[in-house]
Amino acid sequence: MAVVTGKAITDNGLGLMKLVLPNDVTPDDVIFPVLKTALECGANVWNGADFYGTPDHNSLHLMNRYFTKYPEDADKVVLSIKGGVVSIATYQVDASPEFMRTQVDSANKILDGKKTIDLFGPARVDPNVPIERTVEELAQLVKEGKIGGIQLCEVRADTIRRASKVARIDMIEAEVSLWSTDIFNNGVAETCAELNISIQAYAPLGSGMLTGQIKSIDDLPTSDRRRLHFPRYQPENLEKNLALVRELEKFAGSKGCSLAELALSWVKSGNGKAGKPFVVPIAGARSEKRVRENCAAIDLSEEDLEKIATILDSFPVAGERYPAKAMEYSEY
Ligand SMILES: NC(=O)c1ccc[n+]([C@@H]2O[C@H](COP(=O)([O-])OP(=O)(O)OC[C@H]3O[C@@H](n4cnc5c(N)ncnc54)[C@H](OP(=O)(O)O)[C@@H]3O)[C@@H](O)[C@H]2O)c1
Repeated sequence: MAVVTGKAITDNGLGLMKLVLPNDVTPDDVIFPVLKTALECGANVWNGADFYGTPDHNSLHLMNRYFTKYPEDADKVVLSIKGGVVSIATYQVDASPEFMRTQVDSANKILDGKKTIDLFGPARVDPNVPIERTVEELAQLVKEGKIGGIQLCEVRADTIRRASKVARIDMIEAEVSLWSTDIFNNGVAETCAELNISIQAYAPLGSGMLTGQIKSIDDLPTSDRRRLHFPRYQPENLEKNLALVRELEKFAGSKGCSLAELALSWVKSGNGKAGKPFVVPIAGARSEKRVRENCAAIDLSEEDLEKIATILDSFPVAGERYPAKAMEYSEY
């Protein structure tokens, strides 16, 4: 358990991105039970964005519909919303004070009072806007009651420190999984632990890779074919990455759990330990069964963690996390 903007959170969350895929729309009668199940399992950090979906049907519209139907759930959820993306296609970002304010106003308009925005922040740091200016405006929006708290995404440790001098940073969002371990080596995890900032681990199942469901490039869902352009899925890298997945799968088998359970339990394995930040995986899943599986952690002993570290060392991940243009907007 941790507390974010006064609300208790557990070490499970939910990603909303794939619930509103424009090219693979999931109907509300399928999504709502998924959202209900997440809450039943204690997964109350929900991660959305105005650019998840289309301008007329995105994760904010979904939240409006869900909380209109279930108003009693509104206070149970810590809703985390990212903005500041001008074009997802060209990776154009704007974290200027003016755009942050416009985006918060527009998100609140879509939510229409059915749900407050518990956390808001830019999806990426804007290279043209000092982080201090962005955070100053977000702090003003907190003061005005338009958002509950501040989050940052894909930021280096020194950015977290600079931002924290301006206002309390409530959460950091970062890609964290068995194949994206950067934050444990670049000072981000350490800094968050020191400043008592919890972390949302995005894509904690490697966007599906760490479930064992993808055995070849043909297994990528048609709605996720953009990954064909990602370095880790290029033929020269994919085979090496699949070898890592197979090793991890074998280890999961020896523990009597699924690879997804192993992957998510690993992400959470530092929680409650001295010097480690509280990490909440925000796995995306579109069935109640998967949500339940993703919230059921297994115990990983120090020996298990060492074995996993040995596998990661022996089968290094091949390829960057994103294409070169997108990597320019990540701080590491
Ligand atoms: N800040 C950023 O830049 C950024 C980037 C990407 C994502 N995110 C956030 O992170 C969230 C999660 O990311 P993600 O959805 O890309 O990746 P993910 O959570 O790592 O993986 C989701 C994929 O795994 C499948 N899956 C989930 N549970 C499973 C299970 N138990 N067994 C087998 N397959 C399972 C899902 O399939 P089904 O959907 O078919 O169930 C989906 O294809 C997003 O919703 C979003 O909120 C943030």
